[in-house]
Amino acid sequence: MTNTIKIATCIAAAVFGLAGCFPKASGVIMSLPVESKEQILARYDEAQLQEGKAIFASRCTQCHALKDPASRDAAAWNKILKRMIPMAKLDDAQGQLVRAYLIANSEEK
Ligand code: HEC
Repeated sequence: MTNTIKIATCIAAAVFGLAGCFPKASGVIMSLPVESKEQILARYDEAQLQEGKAIFASRCTQCHALKDPASRDAAAWNKILKRMIPMAKLDDAQGQLVRAYLIANSEEK
């Protein structure tokens, strides 16, 4: 093996090894369309939003204080949650309920 190949192999191992430390969102979560508050409110009922709130309150406090749903608009939540749902290790159903609750209560725009 030439030195160049050795170095390239080391770099690749380091990069892929590191990537393994960051959980990846499932295909379902990653491919959710960007939805507005109105679209979410049309698709989810009050019981589902309350369930999302409960999951949010119990699972999104492991690393930082709870964020205020109204601190961000729907567009921001759509984006941030693709990163945070896997961080909280939520399954697809739980992730979608938390997302529905946060978008439903997001900042008015
Ligand atoms: C495993 C730890 C962990 C868990 C669990 C977690 N977060 Fe986070 N969160 C972080 C870290 C670290 C940051 C700051 C770095 C960043 O933005 O990626 C952050 C940042 C944020 C931000 C600010 C990001 C921005 O760009 O403005 C929001 C909002 C947020 N988290 C919401 C949530 C929600 C909602 C959940 C539950 C689904 C959650 N977090 C669960 C670690 C976590």
